[in-house]
Amino acid sequence: MPINKQAVEELERRRQATEAGGGRKKIEARHAKGLWTARERLAHLFTEGTFQEYGQHAQHESRQFGMEGKDLPGDAVVTGVGYVDGRPVASFSQDFTVAGGSLGTMHAEKISMIMDQAEIGGIPVVGFNDSGGARIQEGVMALSGYGQVFNRNVRLSGVVPQIAVISGPCAGGAAYSPALMDFIIMIREGAEMFICGPEVIRGVTGQATTKAEIGSADVHASVSGNIHFVAENEEDAVGIVRRLLSYLPSNNMSEPPHHIEPELDLAEDPAMNDILPDSGKSPFDVKDVITGLSDPDSFLEVQRDFAKNIVVGFGRIAGMVVGYIANQPKELAGCLDIDASDKGSRFIRFCNAFGVPIINLVDVPGFLPGVRQERGGIIRHGAKMLFSYGAATVPKITIIMRKAYGGAYLAMCSRDMGADLVLAWPTAEIAVMGADGAVNILYRGDLDKADDRVARSRELADEYRAHFASPYISAGKLFIHDVITPSETRARVALALRTLLSKRETRPPKKHGNIPL
Ligand code: HXC
Repeated sequence: MPINKQAVEELERRRQATEAGGGRKKIEARHAKGLWTARERLAHLFTEGTFQEYGQHAQHESRQFGMEGKDLPGDAVVTGVGYVDGRPVASFSQDFTVAGGSLGTMHAEKISMIMDQAEIGGIPVVGFNDSGGARIQEGVMALSGYGQVFNRNVRLSGVVPQIAVISGPCAGGAAYSPALMDFIIMIREGAEMFICGPEVIRGVTGQATTKAEIGSADVHASVSGNIHFVAENEEDAVGIVRRLLSYLPSNNMSEPPHHIEPELDLAEDPAMNDILPDSGKSPFDVKDVITGLSDPDSFLEVQRDFAKNIVVGFGRIAGMVVGYIANQPKELAGCLDIDASDKGSRFIRFCNAFGVPIINLVDVPGFLPGVRQERGGIIRHGAKMLFSYGAATVPKITIIMRKAYGGAYLAMCSRDMGADLVLAWPTAEIAVMGADGAVNILYRGDLDKADDRVARSRELADEYRAHFASPYISAGKLFIHDVITPSETRARVALALRTLLSKRETRPPKKHGNIPL
């Protein structure tokens, strides 16, 4: 018997009603701001015709404060699964045209339902956040809804990749779900994110501020470090999501999408020999080294504008996915400070959670000296680097390019901290501290008595440098597996990576370690 025509028409009518969201006027207002609707974002993310919606007919639970009898299509969020570049992905997209995308009971239930699907299927979650936060009319029920979402964010952390896009205003609770995810992409214009807005700040503290000052994409990218990517617009944001997913496994039990070549190209790259300046004290751009090691156009930098003294990001070497952690000599001479330690550690932990091998590029004179650093807790923050490397069981390859001094030598993954392979360039200097500093401490009395303090200091520094500041002392003690030229590096790393991809390391059972936070 053919299906009842009226029943199908009723379904179609209901579908069209929810798909209209908050109506033409509100949609036009979004477009006037250069922003997409919740459904337009999903249409751009997913391969055409693959998105399957869950919960389209959900009815909201708001019954008070003017909400009686109001229709909130889909309860202000669109949820479902579909294909992104051939792999299933779960997504939710908040609909600002409906009650400002605010989160009520059913809204939260829908997000929770799609996150449960992601957990069951082992597929990534992409959340488009565009919301005025907890739906005020639903009171504590809305808070409970946030609790359920946050709880799932935590449950899924380290199980499937979670990517948040900030596509509009994200106030209050709407900022915390993204903060619990792995990566946050924020649109430069039209998106904002804060816990307490300017009005609340003024009321409580008397401080005058603006939304831009506390919650813009630029501020979060460069000052607070809350986000990982700034997108120029919605289309760019979807492009970044797709690019990011291309490096990630669907879950922690799968391998990252390596494209392993049957036979590796192990040719030397002479151009790599020209990157380092003649003087060991002159800066260079470590991104040139990363580009030289990586397959063409494969480097995706993460948190580009925050703590620029460390560079982190994904790339491919001979088709294999890697995560780079690199000191940047162009910024603060590559010193590790509080922000760089936080940035580096979080990235190491993401790579470890999802089986991404780690490449460490080292040129670090030490931890940044300073009263603000000490009082700000550099001990605690720097310890995160030690902890993260020590806990990481993925393949770890360290290349010492120039300086590797003191605690920072260990904090950039020395052999003792668990590096599977340490290679050094002939320009590497591995020591407790720089030669000038060491001489001042070791020979203070001698220098005080010297006729020509400067000449004597230089003489002693040269002696110290000759002893420690070359890779051969460390290579002689097997702290370094080999000394190689920059031009040999790509091939050596590629072959080592290929060898280490099958690495499996187990640790004593425990609930979890206690990383200094
Ligand atoms: C119910 C809300 C809402 C909310 C916005 N709306 N936020 N409805 N609950 N939280 C509704 C508005 O009433 C309006 O409805 C529509 O959404 C669009 O809002 P506008 O204000 O007209 O838009 P805009 O000028 O663009 O401003 C967007 C905004 C602002 C910045 C998000 O709406 C705002 O400040 N909202 C409140 C933010 C907030 O304080 N949220 C609670 C956070 S507490 P109509 O019908 O006119 O279209 C929280 C607790 C969780 O989230 C904490 C967990 C840790």
